[in-house]
Amino acid sequence: MARLTRALLMALATAGSATAAPAESTTTTTTQNATADGLHSLMVKAGKMYFGTAIDVNNFADAKYMAIADNKNEFGMMTAENSMKWSSSEPNQGKFAFASADKVVERAKKNGQGMRCHNLIWYNQLPSYVTSGSWTNETLTAAMQTHITNVVEHFKGACYAWDVVNEAFGDGDGSYRQSVFLKNIGEAFIPLAFQAAAAADPDTKLYFNDFNLEISPDKAAATLALVKDLQARKIRIDGVGFQGHLVVGGTPTRDALATSLRQFTALGVEVAYTEVDIRFESLPASSSGLEQQAQDYAALVGSCLDVKECVGVTVWQFSDKYNWVSSVFKGKGDACLWSADYAKKPAYDAVIKVLQDAISSSGTSKIPGFMMDEGVFFW
Ligand code: G3I
Repeated sequence: MARLTRALLMALATAGSATAAPAESTTTTTTQNATADGLHSLMVKAGKMYFGTAIDVNNFADAKYMAIADNKNEFGMMTAENSMKWSSSEPNQGKFAFASADKVVERAKKNGQGMRCHNLIWYNQLPSYVTSGSWTNETLTAAMQTHITNVVEHFKGACYAWDVVNEAFGDGDGSYRQSVFLKNIGEAFIPLAFQAAAAADPDTKLYFNDFNLEISPDKAAATLALVKDLQARKIRIDGVGFQGHLVVGGTPTRDALATSLRQFTALGVEVAYTEVDIRFESLPASSSGLEQQAQDYAALVGSCLDVKECVGVTVWQFSDKYNWVSSVFKGKGDACLWSADYAKKPAYDAVIKVLQDAISSSGTSKIPGFMMDEGVFFW
């Protein structure tokens, strides 16, 4: 897919706001009217590239879900929640399977939405031939390079960015997380992965993506050191993804979050929130809890607005119906902007308000600048 011209991008950005399907009106519990600007439209007007969401093909039969996911007024950048991961994209060695991920890409293409692509090298969601294989440094390096090359080339032109390496650091002291890659290749698996991705697609942005960068100084320090090391070796890294899996009441302030982002942008890389959900530690949520969640979401989105090189925010599913938290942390969850029955929650309104406030205070409402400057792929 060809990179679009600046003028055409401008037209598409405008069209995205003007012609998007009306916000769903039957389930909303908020004061937003059906033609109001949604998350993505406002994010662009606030000078950012996108507001996005993870979606899963397994949910495509849910009409209410798709009515929101398809709405470019709300979401301008999509991530396949699972179907690009190694276990899905190369389930048997050398046999690539792209049908599920292709459905997500085609849907985004039809809607004029971009794609953040996730992920290439992660310790998790690997097929058993990878985790249990008898590897040497050389054979696993070759398998990793083959995987990256084939997957990146398949989606070439579709991905604004790739999460090249995901979650390489542990949670305690910032040491490298144990994985089949670390065990067989050593720390060199990371630069090797970035080199392979860069060779396969010179245009897509290459990200390192991890969680708790917002709240773990050790993990942030280790990641900063990694970025500096790659840069010193002239290996391309374009961005750092802050996943943003956070807890209601435990989310840092807007200023603290912006300070964390700036540690990275000071090195010359862009940043993005890539997997945001803010969960309750116990359920059901009280009305004061929902208000706290709203403030936490507003702080996070506000921090992206405060940092020029923060390109956008992606939520990790938009409805409590499909968010991963409740299946992993029993009794916890309700971490999304929409409820399980697709009512907009106070957190949705709070994000809308923080975006509207930014637009009215900066006067940038007619300048969808970042997207134009960066030449993001929209079809
Ligand atoms: O597809 C199978 C299905 O065939 C089977 O019947 C079913 C039975 O449990 O499992 C299905 O696979 C599940 C898969 O999601 C697809 O739904 C896996 O069990 C389940 O473990 C997997 O969970 C995903 C998780 O990553 C894996 O660690 C979540 O959906 C996904 O949201 C989550 O996403 C990660 C990011 O990629 C990286 N950062 C953390 C984030 C949250 O854990």
